[in-house]
Amino acid sequence: MYFIAIKQIRVVHVLSLSNLTTDEDVLNIFSSVFKSYGADITRYKSSFIKRRLGRRMGILGLKNYLDYEQVLKKNSVEFEELFMSLSINVTNFFRDSIVYESFKSFIMPKILANVGPGGRIRIWSAGCASGEEPYSIAIMLLSALEKSDNFSIEIVANDISRKAIEYAQRGKYSVKSVEKLPPNVVTKYFQKIGNTNTEYEVNSSVKNQISFKICDILSNDVKQIDAIFCRNVLIYYGRESQELILSKFHKCLKEHSYLVLGMDETMLGRKCEKLFNPVMARERIYQKILPNN
Ligand SMILES: C[S@@+](CC[C@H](N)C(=O)[O-])C[C@H]1O[C@@H](n2cnc3c(N)ncnc32)[C@H](O)[C@@H]1O
Repeated sequence: MYFIAIKQIRVVHVLSLSNLTTDEDVLNIFSSVFKSYGADITRYKSSFIKRRLGRRMGILGLKNYLDYEQVLKKNSVEFEELFMSLSINVTNFFRDSIVYESFKSFIMPKILANVGPGGRIRIWSAGCASGEEPYSIAIMLLSALEKSDNFSIEIVANDISRKAIEYAQRGKYSVKSVEKLPPNVVTKYFQKIGNTNTEYEVNSSVKNQISFKICDILSNDVKQIDAIFCRNVLIYYGRESQELILSKFHKCLKEHSYLVLGMDETMLGRKCEKLFNPVMARERIYQKILPNN
């Protein structure tokens, strides 16, 4: 009781200097309203949450965190807006192309050897946003396997954002999204929609390789995966959630299979570091190892 009273005095004091409110104070203020909507604020990085709250408050013309908390309590539509804003969908085709080139040249041959002739290559794009990542993976695999029809491909792609998955499933992209791709890739794997030159659709030969799902990474039930691409997702999460996600990936991967993170993401200092070997450190490509190795 005494502790709670002290804590409240501290929060109110800090709020009166609203610019100086610490990330931790902000999490404390909003944790119960998140809980009331069945969401967990603690899984996100506090600095990230603070930035997203600031953005929504700016849109509503609010300066005080407690005022915004009151709005959230009463208005589930605003909570939905805030929650959606926590899903940053920025992406593009062959993002950090060096990663795809290295994967194709050095990791693919190892996966093919692992899978063996006639085998099925299973890839998971975790946090796939509007689909550019899984489509890039499919195009990379199709072009690598051009001269060999011995292998089949299965790409599973998931995201928590319904909007993102619906967009991904349509597979239609603006000319701006495809303009940096090599022209032969566009000709081979996309078709123009209508005569307007403004929109392209991914060919069905690419689409057919991918199954899209709206779900959280932690609840996606997949096994025996040869490589997981989880790029630019962990960056928004706090350490504990990162550990949970990384150990989930370890369970889903086949022995000696691969995990690809984003260029600004690292496993350094995580407990899970001992579960993965950085085989291509610059590209953030890791290989699963067994704990007792
Ligand atoms: C910045 S985008 C990255 C897209 C793509 N991986 C890339 O690197 O270009 C992050 C995506 O991860 C999704 N995401 C975040 N947390 C997730 C979770 N727990 N489960 C599934 N998707 C998640 C977001 O909705 C968003 O679409």
